Amino acid sequence: MVLRLNGLARLVGAAVVLLGAAGTTHAAGDPALGEKKFYTCYGCHGNENYRNAYPDYRVPKLRHQHAAYIVAALKEYKNGDRPHATMHAQAVSLSDQDMEDIAAYLQGPEPVKPTKTVGPVPPQATQCGACHGENGSGVEAPLDPKPPVLAGQHPDYLEQALTAYHNGRRKNVVMGGMSQLLKSDADVKAAAEFFARQPSPLATATTGSK
Ligand code: HEC
Ligand code: HEC
Repeated sequence: MVLRLNGLARLVGAAVVLLGAAGTTHAAGDPALGEKKFYTCYGCHGNENYRNAYPDYRVPKLRHQHAAYIVAALKEYKNGDRPHATMHAQAVSLSDQDMEDIAAYLQGPEPVKPTKTVGPVPPQATQCGACHGENGSGVEAPLDPKPPVLAGQHPDYLEQALTAYHNGRRKNVVMGGMSQLLKSDADVKAAAEFFARQPSPLATATTGSK
């Protein structure tokens, strides 16, 4: 993988470090095994617009999300850094290898990054680009922790995730800080809606989808 270092100077957040080239090759997940292990997950993540109840928001799209981020998110549900009873119950039953396999299956080949940005970037989203890309589809630099693709994600899910970082329910050093830039519910909504309408590799992980 070719490392593109331009733009790194703009990076903020002490917890974000540049990995050596070895760190960018993601640990060996087996996508074929991952597809089998994802069996119990289709019920929610494999249905277009399937909703979480109380509070009501759509479950996140996982197809073509970054593998390293999927693994990190599953570990956070497992250890409680992300509070969600169902996802905690799902994640505790997964070994590290299960997570790698599932993540390899969901990501597939390295996600294509659409370069187009739809509409002007609202002030609420200008400081997100260093890690998420101007249009939310990522940056070339291999960052750790791996920032997720935001482009094309469900806006109501993005809103609830940002609110959870903001009020400390999701415990993440980087996003705990970044979410404080959004001062009101209206700011959160503006950022979420901007990223949600961007061109995206993300899709619902329906059975048989690639
Ligand atoms: C009963 C419904 C349900 C099932 C079953 C389920 N999930 Fe989830 N999943 C959710 C919801 C709701 C969220 C969002 C939780 C939150 O607000 O943090 C979520 C979040 C996630 C995320 C975080 C995505 C992101 O963008 O941060 C991952 C990864 C994930 N699930 C993977 C899985 C895997 C793997 C399985 C099967 C082992 C699974 N889920 C089973 C409902 C479900
Ligand atoms: C310094 C790098 C950095 C910056 C700047 C940054 N983020 Fe993040 N973002 C991350 C990382 C890393 C994660 C994964 C955190 C985790 O594991 O929960 C993340 C996660 C998220 C998520 C969760 C997505 C999901 O699928 O659950 C949202 C939403 C988000 N960021 C929005 C934003 C917005 C909006 C801004 C600008 C106000 C922003 N981020 C700025 C690094 C960054």
